[in-house]
Amino acid sequence: MFASTIENHVVESLPQVELKGHINLVSTRSQVEHAARYLSRQPVLGFDTETKPRFSSGRMYMPALLQFSDGVSSYLIHLKKTGLPQEIVAILCDPAIIKVGAAVRDDIAGLQRYAPFEPAGFVDLQDMVQEYGIVEKSVKKMSAIILGKRISKSQQVTNWEAFPLSGAQALYAATDAYVCYSIYNKLIAHNSEKKSPRQRMYEEILVSAASLLKDEPDLVANMANVSALIKETFKFWWVGFYRIDNKSRELVLGPFQGPLACTRIPFGRGVCGTCWKQRKTIIVPDVEKFPGHIACSSRSRSEIVVPLFDKKGELIAVLDIDSEKTGTFDQMDSRYLEELAGLFKNIY
Ligand code: SME
Repeated sequence: MFASTIENHVVESLPQVELKGHINLVSTRSQVEHAARYLSRQPVLGFDTETKPRFSSGRMYMPALLQFSDGVSSYLIHLKKTGLPQEIVAILCDPAIIKVGAAVRDDIAGLQRYAPFEPAGFVDLQDMVQEYGIVEKSVKKMSAIILGKRISKSQQVTNWEAFPLSGAQALYAATDAYVCYSIYNKLIAHNSEKKSPRQRMYEEILVSAASLLKDEPDLVANMANVSALIKETFKFWWVGFYRIDNKSRELVLGPFQGPLACTRIPFGRGVCGTCWKQRKTIIVPDVEKFPGHIACSSRSRSEIVVPLFDKKGELIAVLDIDSEKTGTFDQMDSRYLEELAGLFKNIY
């Protein structure tokens, strides 16, 4: 399973990507013909462009380089020498040749300044990774998470209109297309790890909650924002925390989102009190079938309650979520919500 995010220092510790195969430089008519013949036979191509950086405001330069990689050979097309040749436009418009890149809309818009064309068969890794619960969008971080490899960005801001390119520039440009190709292939091979939209929403909640809790030490403030995060994401009927009051042996209503709720629940009573007593997540598919369920609202039909522990393993609160529909929650919800509850444990 792929991680949803990765920290910079972890990326920097990874081994560097090694480009496989040959780099073909394309600047003449016969080289264009050779490249187009080869590339048009490939089902999948990594794709990227490079544009000379502009340091003052104003219109961007036209892309100087168009790169393709089929994982074996890389082709660097010097657009300043070749223009955008018709044979290459045919590849960019062929729905049967998958072109894989990152933020491809920008590359396409740049290429369309050479010649108008109707792009087809493009896959944007920034969209594709979301299906796997990956939140990162930069090629560097996607490469780190998916390939376990680091790509160097040291050549990114160089003069891409130079001819000939330096060896380091050619290697960088080819590697970018190669990495896009490799990421795509690996994702396809791990097709079964795609996440449902609901899982992806939980992954995003976890990332947001981790960053909220990292910056704020106050328990109530964090509970307030986390309940808002869940409520806003899923639109559940009621989301909130009950905190343990050891003196009265009661749960006391904490930060929540939704309609008014009961303020105190004794130990062992209702779903929340049972969660406290059993120290584990309770899923209630139908509240009418749970003996002792406390109906704060007649609209609540199913419920999940997750315990929150502190560092010492003491139970400090429960997170309660109510749905207006029966059977809303299952093991997937409990897995993610327990992970969310675990973020509090790291802090308190
Ligand atoms: N139904 C809960 C009480 C809390 S409310 O749903 C907000 C229970 O049985 O513990």
